[in-house]
Amino acid sequence: MTMTVDYRTRVSNVLVIGTGGAGMRAAIAAHQAGCEVTLIGKRLKKDAHTVLAAGGINAALGTVDPDDRWQWHYADTIRDGYFLNNPRMVEIMAQEAPDAVLELADWGCQFARRPDGRLDQRFFGAHRYRRTCYAGDYTGRAILYTLAGKVEEMGIAIHEYQYVSHLLVKDGVCFGALAFDIQTGERTVYLADAVVLAAGGHTRLWRRSSSRRDENTGDGLYLALQAGAELADMELVQFHPTGMTAPEEMAGTLVTEAVRGEGGHLYNALGERFMARYDAERMELSTRDRVALANYTEIVEGRGGPNGGVFLDISHREKAFILTKLPRMYRQFMETLMLDISQKPMEVSPTAHYSMGGVVVDAETTATRVEGLYAAGEISAGLHGANRLGGNSLVETLVFGRRAGEQAARFSAQVNVQLRDKRVIQDAHDDLTRLVRDGSEMARPLQRALRNTMWENCGVVRDEARLNTGLSQIGELRAALQQVDVRPSSEGWQDLAVALDLRGALTAAEATIRSALERRESRGSQQRYDYPEINPALEVNFCVQLDANQQQVVTSRPVPPVSDDLRQYVMDDPQLLFKGRLLE
Ligand code: FUM
Repeated sequence: MTMTVDYRTRVSNVLVIGTGGAGMRAAIAAHQAGCEVTLIGKRLKKDAHTVLAAGGINAALGTVDPDDRWQWHYADTIRDGYFLNNPRMVEIMAQEAPDAVLELADWGCQFARRPDGRLDQRFFGAHRYRRTCYAGDYTGRAILYTLAGKVEEMGIAIHEYQYVSHLLVKDGVCFGALAFDIQTGERTVYLADAVVLAAGGHTRLWRRSSSRRDENTGDGLYLALQAGAELADMELVQFHPTGMTAPEEMAGTLVTEAVRGEGGHLYNALGERFMARYDAERMELSTRDRVALANYTEIVEGRGGPNGGVFLDISHREKAFILTKLPRMYRQFMETLMLDISQKPMEVSPTAHYSMGGVVVDAETTATRVEGLYAAGEISAGLHGANRLGGNSLVETLVFGRRAGEQAARFSAQVNVQLRDKRVIQDAHDDLTRLVRDGSEMARPLQRALRNTMWENCGVVRDEARLNTGLSQIGELRAALQQVDVRPSSEGWQDLAVALDLRGALTAAEATIRSALERRESRGSQQRYDYPEINPALEVNFCVQLDANQQQVVTSRPVPPVSDDLRQYVMDDPQLLFKGRLLE
C-alpha cells in the first residue's frame, strides 16, 4: 500500500554517508574535484567513531628508524594479515600513507614532533620499525577535528542526526538515499550522481566492544548488501587485547595499544609476564590476534584477576611521561575507577574492536559492484586480511577516503542525466512507514540479546556447535524484530533508529556467523577450537551476497597473489610467518 509522506529533497553531485575520517576525507576530495557535496551522519559532526581512535596512524616516514620504507610497511601488513589481504590495496595504502599523513600535518593536525620538528613515531604491535605517528593517545580526535576544520573552511555543510534507512537503487545504479532526522523525524531524499558509503563496521554487536552505544551497529553493511553489493571476510572481526573490565558500564572501552608501545607489560594474576609463553620474541608487541588470544587463554584457564582480566602495567614509567604520551588513558582510569595508572596496573580483557571485513570494493577506485556506489573506511573489506595492524585503520580512512571522493566526482562528471525513480523512492518511504507501529517487543533488550549471543557463540574462539547455536538465535531475534514497538516520543525518533540498528545488526551478525562456519581453520582473528590449525587451502576470501529470495549466500574466492617485485619483502623472514595458530 502506498502512503503519503512529507519529505524534503536535496540534490548534489556526491552524497557522502558517514562523518568519520573516511567520510570527511571523501567529501574534501570530491569538493576539490569541483563537485557539490552533501555530507550526512547519524551523530554530531565531531563525534563520529574516529574520535575514539587512540594510539596512532602509520606511515613509513623513517623519522626515527631511517631504514623503514613503504615496502616494509606493505610486508608487515600482508604477513600479519595472514595473506588474506588484497595485495593491491595494501600496496596503495603503504605507498600513499606518507603523503596522506604529511598533508594532514600541513592542515594543522597536532601530531607529536621530534625536537627537530619532524613527526615523531612510536612502536605499535608487529611493526618492525617505529612508524606510528601520534597525537598523545587521542590521535583519531586530532585527525577528525582537523578534517572537520577543512570541511568547514570549504563550506561543505554537514547534516547531523541523519539516519539513512535505504539506499536508492534502480537497475543496479545507486542514485541517493532516504534518511530521517533522529530528533524530528523529518525525512529527506538525498539525490546524487554518486554515493560514498563510509558508515563504519559492526563491532557493537558484541557484548564487550570498544564502540559506544549506537555506533558500528552494522547498519551500513545492511544498506550495502540490500543495494546489491557484496560483503567479504565478515568472520574476520578483530578483538583488541586490552579493553577495560570495570566498571560494568565501561567494560570493553579501549585501552590503547600505545600503552604497550610505550613499554607497558602484561601480567597474569600469578605475576607472570605471560607473553613469554606466546611470543617470546615480540612479547607485548606481538600481533593483536596473538596478544588477544594470549589474554583470553590466561583468563579462561583461571589466571585472571577479580574482574576477569589480566593486568597491564605501565607504572614503571614516570608519571610525567605517562601524562605526555598517554593522557587520555591516565584520565580514563582516574575518572572511572580512581585508579592512578602511574602507580597501579589496569585490569584488561579482549574487546571487539574492528571489522576487517565489509563491502567488497575495487582496490583502485573503491567502487562497489553497484554503479555509482563507493565505500571507504571500516565499512570496506580487503586491506587488513585476518589481522589488522594497529594504526592502519586511520591511514586507511585518509588514503581510501580520498580515492572514494575523487572517483565519485569522476563518476559524477560523466553522468549525463541524474537518475530519479519515483517508484523506488516511494517504496523506501513505505517500508520506513511500516516500521512505525505498536508492538509487543522492545528493540533494546533484543539488541542486548544479540550482543550476548555474539559474545558467547562467535567470540574470540569459536566452534561449529556454538556458531550454529548463534545462527538459530539470530533467527529467533529476527522473528521478534517483526513485533518491535516503534513510536515517536518526546525523545524524538530514537526508537526507529534503534529498530533499524537492530535490523542491520541481525543481517551483519548472520553474515559473520555464516562466514565463520565456512572458515574451518584458525587464522588470525578467526580462532576455532575444532580446527586449531591454519589450512593453506583456505587462502580465500568468503563473500556474502543476497540471492533472489533475499537469502544470504556464501561463496569463496582466491586472494589475488602478491606481486613478484614485493614478494621478497614479504618472505624476508620466514620464521615470522604463521605464528598465529590456536595456542594449546
Ligand atoms: O590501541 C589503539 O590505540 C588502537 C589503534 C587502532 O586500532 O588502530
